[in-house]
Amino acid sequence: MKKKKLNINDYILLLVCICISFLIIITGCSENNSEIGIGPVKKLNLAPLNKNLSEKGKQIFDMKCIPCHRIDSKIVGPSLSGVTKRRKPEWIMNMILNPVQMTKENEAAKQLLNQYLVQMTYQNVSEDDAKAILEYFRDVDLK
Ligand code: HEC
Repeated sequence: MKKKKLNINDYILLLVCICISFLIIITGCSENNSEIGIGPVKKLNLAPLNKNLSEKGKQIFDMKCIPCHRIDSKIVGPSLSGVTKRRKPEWIMNMILNPVQMTKENEAAKQLLNQYLVQMTYQNVSEDDAKAILEYFRDVDLK
């Protein structure tokens, strides 16, 4: 059997294929990151609204977030009314749990930082507490 030698064109073709695969992988990842954000929360299944949890969330919000946020107006940070309509629940959780990396690596959060010019800081919120705050936002957005 005759062995076919690879010529330069074959190598170029191979290289182009490799580059295209990388590009597909990279854009795939960033698309994911843009929707759900970056942080510990990858997938969230929402249950029907839980009023007790929402009430707990309001209490935490009034303690830890009120210096910079109101529901109906922007102060240091954005108004949070309608936030569950403009962001995925995973994104909101990751923003609460991982705000510094979010404003560096997530496009939407980066844009917010450019607009508000203040870095939202991590408020020492546990994942359970972040879930309660999310419940409060869902409750507010139902009204
Ligand atoms: C030091 C002020 C500050 C505190 C405290 C703070 N935030 Fe923020 N928050 C911001 C700013 C400013 C932004 C816009 C992004 C940026 O500039 O970092 C933001 C953005 C957000 C967003 C995205 C809003 C949108 O329109 O998509 C959410 C959600 C959020 N904060 C929730 C919270 C919650 C919940 C708490 C309390 C646990 C909290 N923040 C505490 C300043 C703060």
